[in-house]
Amino acid sequence: MAVIINAKDNYDLDILKPAAQSIQNGRIVAFPTETVYGLGADGFNEKAVSKIFEIKGRPQDNPLILHISSIEMIYDIAMDYDKEIIRILIENFWPGPLTIILRKKSIVPDKVTAGLKSVGIRMPANKIALDLIALAQRPIAAPSANLSGRPSPTKAEHVIEDLIDKDVDYIIDGGSCNVGLESTIVDLTNKPTILRPGAITYEMLKEVLGEIYIDESLLNYKQKILIPKAPGMKYKHYAPNIPVIVVKGKVKKRVSKVKQLAEYYKNENKRVGILSFYETSFNFKDYKTLIIGSVFSIEECMKNLFSSFRLFEKMDIDIIICEWNNNNGFEALALENRLFKAASYNIYEV
Ligand code: TXA
Ligand code: MG
Repeated sequence: MAVIINAKDNYDLDILKPAAQSIQNGRIVAFPTETVYGLGADGFNEKAVSKIFEIKGRPQDNPLILHISSIEMIYDIAMDYDKEIIRILIENFWPGPLTIILRKKSIVPDKVTAGLKSVGIRMPANKIALDLIALAQRPIAAPSANLSGRPSPTKAEHVIEDLIDKDVDYIIDGGSCNVGLESTIVDLTNKPTILRPGAITYEMLKEVLGEIYIDESLLNYKQKILIPKAPGMKYKHYAPNIPVIVVKGKVKKRVSKVKQLAEYYKNENKRVGILSFYETSFNFKDYKTLIIGSVFSIEECMKNLFSSFRLFEKMDIDIIICEWNNNNGFEALALENRLFKAASYNIYEV
């Protein structure tokens, strides 16, 4: 059973020392980052990394990201990269919610990269995470700290829900994650390509790099046949234990469609939950409604998506209907991607 370290109040480096020791001993520690909580192990220890897969029930073909606390750590784990592109990305976005994929050096165990020749690397913008990595003196391999297939944890409570009984030494509570969705992944082993959308958007990358591509599977969600290049993106993901439906469209049409669907499921004796925006939530007073945020604040909505899903699970809901606006910009790509996956692409466009 995991021990919980409270790093939220009175944070002091000393309280992380036992956790860093655990990492060095090949044990597992859950820790906060600015995106979501991570489930960490020594990135150079094959056995320790295997434990992460076991604990999460993670498919073996889904590689992990190495988390680093200093730029120099890149030299140990990656090779053959374009120094100028890396410099630009680091200067603009690190520490932060951006993972870069580079060719790996042989010191990185195949277990971490699921046999791929490339490795994902990220420097998180969270003091606790950075301190833990620095104390452990090695890159920490970490996926999100949820059971495989569940919504990623954005609070220590979520990690506790999924993993308290597992073979995890510590869960470090650092409060709520600022971003709330997993990092943007950019593959740099070829022409720079976004494999997973996140808070660092296409526009932001385009502005500094000049040229950036997006993995086709992210744009053509209607053609589910396209296989994503980030292995993890092909799994049903980010989903609560309850079926999710998304209604996408302009305000009037979508509100009326949500109401119609809610009515239909109510008549079927289903308990309906609605995930709504502040601005439109008054329309759904007859139902259990959670507010994801303002329709004008993608940031706020990103922060609340996964925790809303986990809240609905506690509310004895049979079906979740999410309203989603007709925002076609790249800025909303990350949120839309997670929402649509949670709904298994069960989407009404109105
Ligand atoms: O924000 C984040 O990235 C969080 C926090 C904990 O840092 N981590 C996270 O890890 O989301 P995870 O394991 O849940 O997602 C990692 C994703 C998977 O989709 C995986 O397939 C992809 O990164 N990935 C890792 N290494 C890769 C590689 N070499 N090539 C392509 N995709 C890779
Ligand atoms: Mg994950």
